[in-house]
Amino acid sequence: MEIVVSGIRSTGQLHLGNYFGAVKNFVRMQQEHQCYFFIANYHALTTHPNPQDLRASVRQVLVEYLACGINPEQAMVYLQSDIREIPELYMLLNMHAYLGELEKVASFKDKVRKQPNNVNAGLLTYPVLMTADVLIHKATKVPVGKDQEQHLEMARNFVNRFNHFYGVDVFPEPYPFNFGEALVKVPGLDGSGKMGKSEGGGNAIYLSEDPASIHKKIMRAVTDTGPTEPNSPVSEPIANLFSLLKLVSPPDTLVHYEAAYADCSIRYGDLKKQLSADVLSFLAPLQERIKEIDSNEAYIQKVMREGAEKASISAAATLKEVRQIMGF
Ligand code: TRP
Repeated sequence: MEIVVSGIRSTGQLHLGNYFGAVKNFVRMQQEHQCYFFIANYHALTTHPNPQDLRASVRQVLVEYLACGINPEQAMVYLQSDIREIPELYMLLNMHAYLGELEKVASFKDKVRKQPNNVNAGLLTYPVLMTADVLIHKATKVPVGKDQEQHLEMARNFVNRFNHFYGVDVFPEPYPFNFGEALVKVPGLDGSGKMGKSEGGGNAIYLSEDPASIHKKIMRAVTDTGPTEPNSPVSEPIANLFSLLKLVSPPDTLVHYEAAYADCSIRYGDLKKQLSADVLSFLAPLQERIKEIDSNEAYIQKVMREGAEKASISAAATLKEVRQIMGF
């Protein structure tokens, strides 16, 4: 059994890509490992959200994760801001983090380009805070996407630097959690890459989205001009719609539309109607759960309180050890 830490971005709602690409794996992981799932609301501060928005989006993300099957009886579920040991460890680790290496991080350079008027120290030390999130529980595995691998590599550098500097073996090196073949790519509706937030928002289907809006988006999904001869190759936009069908429809539905494509009898309008119906019936129970949890404030409060209490145990133990090592 590994110790797993995962920070959940507190911005925005979950879409089907998050669900099939990550959250479903978390649900499995929590049964096999000691999992710490937290909402990274300190990290969210780098972009200066207004307090009401931050509070609302943290709550929304928590509700959606719980609705998807993250189980607070099995995993530690908490808000980053409820564990006071995290910012203290972050401050201590900052003493061994160098400007040169922090400036070279791709996500930092990206932010410097995109928001030149808000290059704050929190942004620069984002990877240090992330390292503190992971090390506070001495985690060895971190389920992250490709975009976070460099941060994890930095975390390993910080671990080795710390252990070496103080002549200790206090932190283990954290590595990406590898889902292997379980990793599913969920395409979006715009005919290219994977499902994600986009300008206009037409590319992603959100878990809490209104059925009429989902239907409209799917009916507008990018297609092509259709197969011209039997067994013509499948273009990316159509392959994407097939991939989505595969995720939400019974297996014979996909077989049916693939056959219709192969013999040129396919009508994309029908395919989209089918996809829309199947997405909606897939989401219906999930939306029901989201509503149910959302209306139960006492339960949400209890999850946050108990999660913080449980996660504080290992956090306090680690910080105590670190303080001693560093000379306090
Ligand atoms: N940086 C991560 C992201 O943007 C979120 C995150 C913060 C995180 N702290 C973490 C992920 C610790 C894993 C472990 O997705």
